[in-house]
Amino acid sequence: MIEAAVHAAAVPPFHAMAMSRVAAEREAAGHRVLHLEIGQPSTPLPRLARAAVEDALEHQLGYTTAAGLAPLRQRLAERYTDVDPGRVLVVGGASAGFTLAFLTLFDPGGRVGVIEPGYPCYRNTLLALGLRPVPIPVGDETRWAPTPDLLAAAGPLDGIVLASPSNPTGTVLGADALAALTTHCRAEGIRIVADEIYHGLVERPAPQVLDHHTEAFVISSFSKYWSMTGWRVGWVVVPDGVVDTVERLQQNLFICAPHVSQVAALAALDATEELEGHAERYRANRLVMLDGLAAAGIAEIAPADGAFYVYAHLPQYTTELGIESTTLCLRWLDELGVAATPGVDFDLARGHEYVRFSYAGRAEDLAEACERVAGWSP
Ligand SMILES: Cc1ncc(COP(=O)(O)O)c(C=O)c1O
Repeated sequence: MIEAAVHAAAVPPFHAMAMSRVAAEREAAGHRVLHLEIGQPSTPLPRLARAAVEDALEHQLGYTTAAGLAPLRQRLAERYTDVDPGRVLVVGGASAGFTLAFLTLFDPGGRVGVIEPGYPCYRNTLLALGLRPVPIPVGDETRWAPTPDLLAAAGPLDGIVLASPSNPTGTVLGADALAALTTHCRAEGIRIVADEIYHGLVERPAPQVLDHHTEAFVISSFSKYWSMTGWRVGWVVVPDGVVDTVERLQQNLFICAPHVSQVAALAALDATEELEGHAERYRANRLVMLDGLAAAGIAEIAPADGAFYVYAHLPQYTTELGIESTTLCLRWLDELGVAATPGVDFDLARGHEYVRFSYAGRAEDLAEACERVAGWSP
């Protein structure tokens, strides 16, 4: 049997997806599962986008230019202050954006800071590309946000991935925090990759990195606010000097983002009323989740300023009873039919004491899941 190359074989799993597979297997076996493990809207493609897709199916859907459909790039550029559409490329989701950003900005072996807890695919994509993720632990002391001091403590860095709102903590970087971080990065020559995929789903204003640092490489996507995870479409805003390089990488690695998804994305940009309805529902879900967790004795949580997650510390099960978070999540799935994601996905050092709950689903399911957890006897 062929074995994978050592380097590729060492890339860790994305536990949220792995947990979601186990949950799906349980459902296939006829059990009911309450899904709090995956950050995925349960709502369909916006109505306007559906109509545009139906119309597009009458025509040839071939390759687009590597950078994407011009009207879509134009509309996306207008979302920022003073960004030329030539700097915007449509990509196959934020995930493709990470590969393009990391390959464009860093040479093999480059040291790139990743906030822990943070979205695991930053670290794992960096590893897959032969780069060196440098963990920057954050905690309650700084509201789970990175600071210039924490960056400095990580040693020399070629780059940093900043996510606001963050997955899993929901932390939003306010204007002061962003100004301090971008000033530090500019002074130290640290390149910034900014993940703004959860903009639009916030409890407090989330300033755009580009308003503080015009040379940031910004990544965003239609997956979350626009409810389009399966359409695999997002965008990047690229610093002036590297537009050609990103375009060449896109041509060679991906050719272009899926044409039909670009058509859908362009139409979805006008679906404000429908999408604000979803955002309102997440706001209500957040309160259901926070109340339900508190009633279950789970009160030590990160800010939950945005996105649709609550990252919770569970010492009553982990440190006190020795049930680390992966085992805890598997037992909850098995014994309660509640799927959640173990913190080890997001934080290698401390994640065994934490669990992430996604409140993207239905309020009734969230309330029921919390009741089941509250009634659980380990
Ligand atoms: C912070 C963050 N960035 C990126 C992604 C992946 O986004 P996409 O579906 O656009 O590839 C996710 C998915 O959960 C995420 O949470």
